[in-house]
Amino acid sequence: MAKRGFFLTVEGIDGAGKSTQAQRLAERLRALGHSVIETREPGGAPGAEEIRKLLVEGAPGRWSAETETLLFTAARRDHVERTVEPALAAGSIVICDRYVDSTRAYQGAGAVELRQVVDRLHALAIRLDPDLTLIFDLDAGAGLSRTDARANGAAENRFEQKGAAFQARLRQEFLAIAEAEPERCVVIDAAAAPDAVADKVWEAVAPRLGLTP
Ligand code: TMP
Repeated sequence: MAKRGFFLTVEGIDGAGKSTQAQRLAERLRALGHSVIETREPGGAPGAEEIRKLLVEGAPGRWSAETETLLFTAARRDHVERTVEPALAAGSIVICDRYVDSTRAYQGAGAVELRQVVDRLHALAIRLDPDLTLIFDLDAGAGLSRTDARANGAAENRFEQKGAAFQARLRQEFLAIAEAEPERCVVIDAAAAPDAVADKVWEAVAPRLGLTP
């Protein structure tokens, strides 16, 4: 049987701290001798990074949710082909900052039909699900104040500009995804201090990799 790595995705509202935690986890796993690939969506491969620019920059109303769904899925297809699948085939642990649950929450939450489009496109064009998904849960207002404080986010704030009510709806959507798929998803309380959050992340990940927590 082909050697296969482990596919972990991290999800949550903007400013939930998932990127920092993903980095800490990667460092901890590498220190134990694992091969770890850190990647992100939208992006994670040269073509997908070009599509990213179209999506995260510009006015909030630049694209409809339908068009966004197609662009995010196109970027994901490129990322999965060029980065994720080869790394998994080589036996690496892939830690991906956002994946299809972000499309479900950000684009799919507005309408039942659109959520079906997201799920169907995923089944038709992507066909790869994470082994484990960590959902970083945080109050929407707290998330936005963290993104406001971020120095490098100025050009990439198309989704943050949609405001607190949008972020609050996203939070509920991520929690609903976790509830619907408890085998795959673990909710992490992102309001705690960074060291405490890192401990919770390790408790969730280590047993699934056959490591002692
Ligand atoms: P980032 O700030 O986590 O790098 O993500 C860029 C933005 O893109 C973020 O506000 C979430 C949004 N996004 C979607 O709306 N749908 C998606 O499928 C993905 C992957 C991200």
